[in-house]
Amino acid sequence: MKAITIAKDVYWVGANVHTEDLFEGIWPIPHGVALNSYVVKGRENAIVELVREWGGASHVLIENLNSLKISPEDINYVILNHLEPDHTGLIYLSKSIAPQAKFVTTEKGARLLEGFYGITENVIEVKTGDEINLGNGKKFIFTEIPNVHWPETMATYEIDSKVLFTGDAFGAFGVHQGSIFDDETPEIHKQYWEEETLRYYSNIISMFSSSVLKGIDELKRFDTRVIAPSHGLVWRGNPQAIINKYVRYSNYNRDLGEPEICIAWGSMYGNTEVMLNAILKGIASVGVPVHVHRVPNEDPSFILSDAYKSAGLIIGCPTYEYSMFPPMKYFMELLKKKSIKYKKVLYFGSYGWSGGAQKDFEKLSENMNWDISESITFKGHPTPEECEKGETVAIKLADEVKKIPSKIKNEEY
Ligand SMILES: Cc1cc2nc3c(=O)[nH]c(=O)nc-3n(C[C@H](O)[C@H](O)[C@H](O)COP(=O)(O)O)c2cc1C
Ligand SMILES: [Fe+2]
Ligand SMILES: [Fe+2]
Repeated sequence: MKAITIAKDVYWVGANVHTEDLFEGIWPIPHGVALNSYVVKGRENAIVELVREWGGASHVLIENLNSLKISPEDINYVILNHLEPDHTGLIYLSKSIAPQAKFVTTEKGARLLEGFYGITENVIEVKTGDEINLGNGKKFIFTEIPNVHWPETMATYEIDSKVLFTGDAFGAFGVHQGSIFDDETPEIHKQYWEEETLRYYSNIISMFSSSVLKGIDELKRFDTRVIAPSHGLVWRGNPQAIINKYVRYSNYNRDLGEPEICIAWGSMYGNTEVMLNAILKGIASVGVPVHVHRVPNEDPSFILSDAYKSAGLIIGCPTYEYSMFPPMKYFMELLKKKSIKYKKVLYFGSYGWSGGAQKDFEKLSENMNWDISESITFKGHPTPEECEKGETVAIKLADEVKKIPSKIKNEEY
């Protein structure tokens, strides 16, 4: 592997990881993930973000450094914008092979450095506005952007190259498709990046949306030419495009989202599915895009993406042992955890004798700021009249969703 030049004396030295592992032990990454790491060369040298020992990433990082004729003992600073192990796993190695390197992080980051890696020496704690001068014109200025994604997070701006290293902010799942840069991304790969960025945002970042907006505001003071996140593309051609995308995503928690409907449904014996078809017929007659996902057959990671961006959310599942069909209960708990609020919502489902799923649905809907339609529940197989009612309620919801304006704009790159 070879390092890739981003600007004069600023390089990408990261790794694209293809692995069967789940990200954070939960989220599938069928397209892998990029662990971006960077080198800035001045009179002294700095590495910004490390990688985790994962799918050969450490080896690739060392090879990339070798291609720059930098060996670990030439590194003076390790800048850690974020202490999550996907960016710090290699620290144990740098401790033994680059003992001279100083770790640069926030005060909260220093506590994590101690907790995760037992490191208390050679640590420089920085606050917003602090600077480190590497010499030869290269100088860092730091900005705390707490809770994007963890409380210790900061961003690092290099004033000569105008590169802003943002940690998880502006990141995405997915490995690079032949180029690390936005302006070398062909049209055909843009849908891939849209999906992997939204899925990363909805799975990892969504509950921190207000911190994302605050962080974006803080970082406006820099004349940023390149956004260099710790995952996904490096935004060199149009950094504003990824800022606009992240602003759009963070607002999906307040402005309902896109005029689309996400249906998450599950069924044991097909009765709930009969009503699903009636509901789909109603939605189709209005002509609103619909994303249909079955649980537990599909992984919640992908369903969360569509649920997060869609203004309409429909949950369909039967009663199971006096409560909600368990995989749907798990999915609804994730909706709560990931703060998927302000949606137009409908529940439907079959039960055998006394029900119970609807009660769970109501409990799990509390404090979500959802506008909830009258639930459609039925004993066993739904009657034609019940199906007609389901279709009518779906038409009403789809009509409301259709009126919501799309928020997608200014994201050309
Ligand atoms: C394992 C199991 C547990 C069930 N528990 C309940 C229950 O506690 N209360 C109830 O009213 N119905 C219960 N039922 C009945 C189902 O809710 C009913 O068969 C329903 O029609 C299933 O919908 P489906 O065909 O979409 O899977 C249970 C069914 C199964 C198979
Ligand atoms: Fe993270
Ligand atoms: Fe990360």
